[in-house]
Amino acid sequence: MTLRIGLAGLGTVGASVFRLLGEKVAHNAARCGREIRVTGVCARDRARDRGIDLSGVTWHDDPVALAASDDIDVFVELIGGEGDPAAAAVRTALSSGKSVVTANKALLAASGVELARLAEARGVTIGYEAAVAGGIPIIKTLREAVAGNRVSRVFGILNGTCNYILTRMEKEGITFEDCLADAQRLGYAEADPTFDIEGNDSAHKLAILAALAFGTEIDTDAIHLEGITAITLEDLETAAELGYRIKLLGVARLTDTGVEQRVTPTMVPKSLAMAGVEGVLNAVAVDGDEIDEIMLVGPGAGDRATASAVVGDILDLARGGNPPPVLGIPAKTLGEAKRARMRAHEGGYYIRLAVYDRPGAFASIATRMAEQSISLESIVQKGQRDPDDPENNVRRVVLITHETTEAQIRAALESILSDGQIVGRPQMIRIEKP
Ligand code: HSE
Repeated sequence: MTLRIGLAGLGTVGASVFRLLGEKVAHNAARCGREIRVTGVCARDRARDRGIDLSGVTWHDDPVALAASDDIDVFVELIGGEGDPAAAAVRTALSSGKSVVTANKALLAASGVELARLAEARGVTIGYEAAVAGGIPIIKTLREAVAGNRVSRVFGILNGTCNYILTRMEKEGITFEDCLADAQRLGYAEADPTFDIEGNDSAHKLAILAALAFGTEIDTDAIHLEGITAITLEDLETAAELGYRIKLLGVARLTDTGVEQRVTPTMVPKSLAMAGVEGVLNAVAVDGDEIDEIMLVGPGAGDRATASAVVGDILDLARGGNPPPVLGIPAKTLGEAKRARMRAHEGGYYIRLAVYDRPGAFASIATRMAEQSISLESIVQKGQRDPDDPENNVRRVVLITHETTEAQIRAALESILSDGQIVGRPQMIRIEKP
């Protein structure tokens, strides 16, 4: 029997899903034993030319009406956004006993546990492979393939736009603004690109991964969030000279005091495979007690990669059978996420300072570090004093610390600031441990 799909949202990903399902009818049927057909669609603008033939498909102006329709078996939500109409349409579909496939990480980050409970109460499921890391099958990996492991850390490059920007800035010396404009033109960025560059998009994805990895409720508000807008060409160059690449990493880690979740620009040693993940590619690594570490790499954004993940979920539903619980364990059994305090974070740090070139400046900085028992691995001074410009008496200084805590580094930087030996605020970037 044909599986009838209601597809809400015909942006670049929605149109790509429509095209892919239409072009690969026999291919898909061979894999799931039945025909899959889009029978209903919904989008904002009916007149827009999307390069797809919608004849023979019922048009709906209201996604909630499409979700409620008896003419569909599965509701595919590609509208986006944590609120209505996406949220209302997904709730309606689940309440009326239809499984949902979605790429909507914002909705899941905000309401994933409630929606999982609703799905499980109705005996249906939610497929959301496309919501995290585009074409990389990390949901299936965590929920099924490595389910026999106790996971201690899941981390990765979760935003294609940011990785594209950082890679091009480092490799080509292109400005942040120009790289972002290209990422928007290529269809990688969110409708509001501040969600990409300020780290919210990565945070939504990380919150979902952390819940799956640790069997806890989704706790997006716990994430310590820093975007990439303060990263300069100089930071990228200096990092490269010191043997690192700067990546926007999402990291969720089990610590003695709870789950630490952060999305921050991070120094990744070049010796780690993750440092070599460039452009729009994403990568997700999982540390588990049986597997040690695995890493998956692939396109994290773009219509075809995201559509591939959506179609994979549709094929799973078409096959039938007993799907795993939405978040790996039944939603009503998810544990409360105990939060680790960011001040307890342990690791090395990259610190960039603009220091007055005068006697005692270095000594006072070193003293403040020593007062907090912070040991320095290296100190690099960038640039020479220009003899023709005696007024130019500020030098860039980069410090790399050995392992310390966030509380100690923050205390040292506050003291350095109040000593008046530096101009502006220090740049501080965490170093990720292998
Ligand atoms: N804007 C997102 C990114 C798309 O750049 O990764 C996929 O969520």
